[in-house]
Amino acid sequence: MNIGLGTAAIGRPQYINIKSPVTEAKFDLETFKSNGRRLLDHAFEKGIRYYDTAPGYGLAEALLIDWLSNKEARDIEIATKWGYTYVANFQTNATQHEVKEHTLAKLNEQWEQSKKLLPFLSTYQIHSATFETSVLKNEAILNRLAELKATHGLKIGISTTGSNQSEVLKTALEVEIETQLLFDAFQVTYNILDQSIAPILKDSIVEGKRFIIKEALANGRIFPNKTYEHYQSMYNYLQNLSQKYEVGIDAIALRFCQDSIHPFKVLSGASEKQHLLENLQMTQFELQEEEIQLLHKFQVSPDSYWKERSALSWN
Ligand SMILES: NC(=O)c1ccc[n+]([C@@H]2O[C@H](COP(=O)([O-])OP(=O)(O)OC[C@H]3O[C@@H](n4cnc5c(N)ncnc54)[C@H](OP(=O)(O)O)[C@@H]3O)[C@@H](O)[C@H]2O)c1
Repeated sequence: MNIGLGTAAIGRPQYINIKSPVTEAKFDLETFKSNGRRLLDHAFEKGIRYYDTAPGYGLAEALLIDWLSNKEARDIEIATKWGYTYVANFQTNATQHEVKEHTLAKLNEQWEQSKKLLPFLSTYQIHSATFETSVLKNEAILNRLAELKATHGLKIGISTTGSNQSEVLKTALEVEIETQLLFDAFQVTYNILDQSIAPILKDSIVEGKRFIIKEALANGRIFPNKTYEHYQSMYNYLQNLSQKYEVGIDAIALRFCQDSIHPFKVLSGASEKQHLLENLQMTQFELQEEEIQLLHKFQVSPDSYWKERSALSWN
């Protein structure tokens, strides 16, 4: 199964997307938790065995630790991250949701909780590695990650975000500790609109590395929406493919990620069972080469993609 489940949307009531704002009255923490648990169960029943989480996703990581406590399936893999702290305390009107901190102290603090995911934990990632925090040059942090890799047999990774993802990736791919390449896993944004990382996958340096795709639905922007009239020709073509394969537009967009660059996993960010089931339809068909070529034409520049994304709100 090439699809993994991202847990950001089941760990905190608000997340970056194009949904309409929810009102405070609708939020109940216990209901939210049991909905999250049920989604994990549905994903498991449907054969999903790769789950992505982070302390920055509110209660998602704790929910997974609890959910795993009675799981015996040794084929489950968990990827988590360190570097963001969730600070919104489940308040739907919060103005600040997370705080980024790429320090050794934060890594050590968050590891104390994340290590409870062992033995299911396979992948430990720097959450949103950027040049601004200099995390890829911080020897104390890189050495500590190498130590965790050696001690626990983890794959060490990064997630990337922003218009310079490719530059960050190229830098990370070359980081060595004692002549060994440190990073094995790269969680990147890739979708019909932002295809900027695709050329890197042709380089031999990525052989044996895992690429995990996030934001495959471009935070919902691949669905027809009057705010984005400039994507009308993409919407029309996605609609044609959706009719041809008798699946939703979401499944077409996820399948595009799979068939165009063959990553290790494509993440579903669904928080509703029905959406997860629709996302899973991506496993029922394959796109043809000429369809992939046509979808390549809808990409926009990373600058305009990320400028548009930064205008999205937490809903
Ligand atoms: N490292 C990072 O910085 C980072 C950043 C973003 C994401 N991630 C990871 O990637 C995972 C995937 O999330 P994403 O942000 O990439 O999400 P995405 O797949 O780009 O979009 C998910 C959004 O699409 C909606 N959706 C999905 N299927 C749908 C359908 N069939 N019909 C209508 N709406 C549908 C979901 O709604 P519902 O919620 O209602 O189902 C949700 O709002 C996250 O959970 C997280 O693990 C990591």
